[in-house]
Amino acid sequence: MPIRSILSGAGGYLPERLVSNDELAAQIDTSDTWIRERTGIRQRYLAAPHETACFMGTRAAREALANAGAGPDDVDAIIVGTSTPDQAFPATAVRIQAELGVTRGFGFDLSAACSGFIYGLSVADSMIRTGNAHGVLVIGSEVYSRILDWKDRATCVLFGDGAGAVFLQAGEGYGSADRGVLSTHLHAQGTLGDILYVNGSVGRRDLPGTLVMNGKEVFRHAVIRLAGAVEEALSANGLTTADIDWLVPHQANLRIIEAMGRRLGLPAERVVITVDRHANTSAASVPLALAEALADGRIKSGDLVLMEALGGGLTWGSALVRI
Ligand code: ACO
Repeated sequence: MPIRSILSGAGGYLPERLVSNDELAAQIDTSDTWIRERTGIRQRYLAAPHETACFMGTRAAREALANAGAGPDDVDAIIVGTSTPDQAFPATAVRIQAELGVTRGFGFDLSAACSGFIYGLSVADSMIRTGNAHGVLVIGSEVYSRILDWKDRATCVLFGDGAGAVFLQAGEGYGSADRGVLSTHLHAQGTLGDILYVNGSVGRRDLPGTLVMNGKEVFRHAVIRLAGAVEEALSANGLTTADIDWLVPHQANLRIIEAMGRRLGLPAERVVITVDRHANTSAASVPLALAEALADGRIKSGDLVLMEALGGGLTWGSALVRI
């Protein structure tokens, strides 16, 4: 039997502070109606100073390990998708390794904006299949509130902070042959880097950087490329949308998610939605949504789950997983 990456647990963390649309509207020129009608977002959670990518990622990872019935000794690799690390180095993954009490293996951060979790899942799956790792934590942890331009109403209302994590374990010999990560497909197109980016970094003393987005262009590419990624995943596995139990999409905008669902002919009740409550948490959005739907019993063992994301780069991709 081939080695599979079994998704044995998931977890999430949201900051304590909930910020409604009305609260934002008291500070900037926007309204609850505009935000809800254009994006489906009703509220978001924003991090306090101590709620960093490491702090939140550690909590999501602990929950994922607990739900997997695993502990620090079962972890030999940690991959963190983040665009908002605590420090340039050490990597957030290595900080999380220390927080969790993991004393072996390795860890690194992965920069693919909102696609960071899907990219991380793909790398982890490859490492497990080739025998380079047996237990991999894949985490998405983001504090976009720190890189937003709070005077730009067209972007600052769209994002929230949070972390999500899954624990993947080498699964030879347990579960049926098709359980675990069935496929991942990754894409990037650097020529589209200027439609969504951060205009600075730690490498620029003069410019720490804030997020800049051409919303209409990102919207247009998101619908086309995410639908393409989903079709690619289905066709690679000889499946149709009728075979999919759950779509867990990147949570950027309810209109993008609904447009995708319509294009694929997927009924709304088979799509996990958190954007209304979490807003766009970038690399954390897919694992947070997955963790929520596993915890409340919507997604069950044996279900076929299709995940997808698109973000700055552009980067995009999909992962098909049987739970
Ligand atoms: N409140 C009130 N009015 C606003 C706000 C706001 N928060 N933001 C913009 N407006 C105004 C604009 O100024 C404009 O006014 P005007 O007509 O007088 O010029 C009007 O609303 C329309 O603005 P548009 O930008 O045309 O609005 P649109 O319908 O395109 O919606 C949105 C904007 C929600 C950003 C949409 O384009 C979108 O969702 N894009 C995709 C974003 C996305 O998916 N990002 C994911 C990737 S994130 C990542 O990878 C990090």
